[in-house]
Amino acid sequence: MTNIMQVELGDRSYPIYMGAGHLDKAELLTQHIKSKQVVIVTNETIAPLYLDRVTKHLQEYQLETIILKDGEQYKTLETLNIIFDTLLAKKFSRNATLIALGGGVVGDLSGFAAACYQRGIPFIQIPTTLLSQVDSSVGGKTGVNHPLGKNMLGAFYQPQSVIIDVDVLDTLDDRQLAAGVAEVIKYGLIRDANFFSWLEKNIEKIMARDKMALTYIIEQSCHNKAEIVASDERESGIRAILNLGHTFGHAIETGMGYGKYLHGEAVAIGTCQAAELSRELGWLNQDDVNRIKSIFQQAGLPIDPPKSLNADDFLRLMAVDKKNVDGDIRLILLKKIGEATLPVAVEKNKLLKVLNDG
Ligand code: GLY
Repeated sequence: MTNIMQVELGDRSYPIYMGAGHLDKAELLTQHIKSKQVVIVTNETIAPLYLDRVTKHLQEYQLETIILKDGEQYKTLETLNIIFDTLLAKKFSRNATLIALGGGVVGDLSGFAAACYQRGIPFIQIPTTLLSQVDSSVGGKTGVNHPLGKNMLGAFYQPQSVIIDVDVLDTLDDRQLAAGVAEVIKYGLIRDANFFSWLEKNIEKIMARDKMALTYIIEQSCHNKAEIVASDERESGIRAILNLGHTFGHAIETGMGYGKYLHGEAVAIGTCQAAELSRELGWLNQDDVNRIKSIFQQAGLPIDPPKSLNADDFLRLMAVDKKNVDGDIRLILLKKIGEATLPVAVEKNKLLKVLNDG
């Protein structure tokens, strides 16, 4: 069964198709391709697993495939150029369609390539990790990392459609599954206390890959994400709450070297730091913080910052963040479980206390 959810953005609205067996449904893909030229961007892990299942539907098209190296460390301008080189060498024109088949790195990179190539070509997301299915493939954030800051180069650029096949999670390794669960937990924390309670009760089923539980968390996450994006596409307000834990998390990813921690792992640690800071500010109590740490731990996620990053490292790294204004670090924190703040600048001594206690 296919569940279709619409991301409502006027003439840039698009559907998210959620369900099982979607890679084998040709029509789901081809109905959004309006030209003869198609390029699939994927990576070395995904290509042997799923590329043929997608190319099978595209025999009538002028098809190119680009297989990138797998990992956050390859989300760079250099990799972006590999995509441009192929598009130009093969004389792809402005109506060509780019298909991103992979996780968040492939999706972000490909989306940015689509946004830039000839000032914008259509693209379709086929996310293959839980993290990309519940977060990064929806909402049009595209981009690459810079050695000094995660996702610091990019564009808002919406896809034509997002095709989620829950069956591809069968081949996802446990670490990647857990990383995706971190972003699922985020939705409960920022705006849906009932969903957070449901997750607490069902975390074992999720980690055991119960299909109904996985389908439910994908639907709930996409529903939350689509609503937020529809009301604030370019993050001038409420969309920022999706960054809970991300300022700390991005500091960890950049500071430790891209790829050492998976994005979701860094977000789990960062969310625990944000929870501790929210407690310092009198918004959460210790029981709330314990509940948050406990669910991440049950998902097999790390909750403590790396020992090799000290408070000064964090401050330096957190100073490069898109939410900062006039040099002030601004963070998404929690008023309570189920309610996030908009970006707030906090007293440095409170931030330092959390960073030093970590
Ligand atoms: N992943 C955060 C956002 O899409 O806004």
